Amino acid sequence: IKIHLVAADAVETTLSVKPKGSLMQAATAANVSGIAADCGGLMTCATCHVYVREPFAARLPPPSAEELGMLEFTASPRQPNSRLSCQLELTQDLDGLTVDLPAKQY
Ligand code: FES
Repeated sequence: IKIHLVAADAVETTLSVKPKGSLMQAATAANVSGIAADCGGLMTCATCHVYVREPFAARLPPPSAEELGMLEFTASPRQPNSRLSCQLELTQDLDGLTVDLPAKQY
């Protein structure tokens, strides 16, 4: 599947990846700057924050209570489409997934 990551300066990175693992894993494996993911997916850092564009945001399972809790600690303003990329499992249904990266993760 293809996933698109749009940095705060509008530079877009497109990755072709298998539909498995998390968006955070795919992004960090490709060294996409803008996703720090300090905790490695343990949901304790909130430095993997992304803004998910429609129609994909609506296709995602809703955030867990733990994810909602960590979203209180994002460095850039939280928005209704804010998610932690370590919690977003890539599936075939997400082909074309487009997310905006926040201006800062710290
Ligand atoms: Fe730390 Fe997602 S990688 S909360």
